[in-house]
Amino acid sequence: MKKTILLILFLFTGIVTAIGFGFHHLFPFKELPYDDDQKGLRDQVLIKFSHVVAENTPKGLAVDRFARLVEEKSDGRIKVAVFPNGSLYSDIEEVSALEEGTVQMIAPATSKLQMLSPKWGVLDLPFIFPNEEAVRHGLEGSIGKELLQTFDGTDIKGLALWSNGFKQLTTNEKVIKKPKDVSGQKFRIMQSPVLDAQFTMLRADGIQHQFNDTYSLLDRKEIDGEENTVSNIYSKGFYNVQQNMTITNHGYLAYAVMINRSFWDEQDEETKNIILEAMKEATAWNEKEALEKNKEQLQYIRENSSMKIHTLTKKERKEWLNALSPLYKKYEEEFGPSLMKEAIKLRDGNF
Ligand code: LMR
Repeated sequence: MKKTILLILFLFTGIVTAIGFGFHHLFPFKELPYDDDQKGLRDQVLIKFSHVVAENTPKGLAVDRFARLVEEKSDGRIKVAVFPNGSLYSDIEEVSALEEGTVQMIAPATSKLQMLSPKWGVLDLPFIFPNEEAVRHGLEGSIGKELLQTFDGTDIKGLALWSNGFKQLTTNEKVIKKPKDVSGQKFRIMQSPVLDAQFTMLRADGIQHQFNDTYSLLDRKEIDGEENTVSNIYSKGFYNVQQNMTITNHGYLAYAVMINRSFWDEQDEETKNIILEAMKEATAWNEKEALEKNKEQLQYIRENSSMKIHTLTKKERKEWLNALSPLYKKYEEEFGPSLMKEAIKLRDGNF
């Protein structure tokens, strides 16, 4: 009898064990509890944000701020992984990377978007913004809206326009005061047909190269100079390999903040609202911060470098404007009458 009971117990234990291990796919156990790090893992959203400038710049800081705001507002559910300094993609590669969805967000210079729509070139017209007020009208008014609409029906959604600041000229040749002073010199420029046309008009050579090659091109003396904002000249150390800078304010460096459209469309309303809210706050913050950073870093360069700095006089500025104004006529047809009319209004201070 005792033997029979032991045999039944033995068989019963065997069957339970077999069900537990052997046939667990037929009788699934309850899921293992997640630890804290894994909690809600499936709801998490990861945004890879790639850009090419240093972290201590108007764009670098605005991206970091946007990332923080998104994380805070979503209680950590939405993460923004930031890749600065072209560590993931160069400025030449980043637009395709966004279109293909290998990154979800980028914020390239508007000058580099003429390959998507020539209209973006309007912001590269020489001296289009006489001052900061004109910049705000241009970026936040009808021009900015029309430009962001060029993304409609594409793989990209435009979220905002950010600011860096006015561009200046640096060179290792003599101090630039008049338009003829740049003649025969080689300058690194962004990938922009309008910028190329400007340098050609001045009988200079505008060489389109990726941003993160500029320092070595200058250092190796393969080019004489470059045009950029004080913030980029400071953060990339161009002032260490250039003897002269002229405060020309001849152009403006703005950014288009863009997101991959399929990624955007996949998100729920709550996620979209958090991204939009964070973008609005980061954009307002960037506007003030950009002004501060360029001012502060110009002061630093003045006090701590051997660079000679000349600021165009009113008379010199007029000479530059006269030399380059035929470009407004040249691009009239390409940009269309409404954009060009607005551009001329801004240039002439009629806004
Ligand atoms: C440049 O290429 O000079 C700038 O667009 C870099 C940047 O993103 O500010």
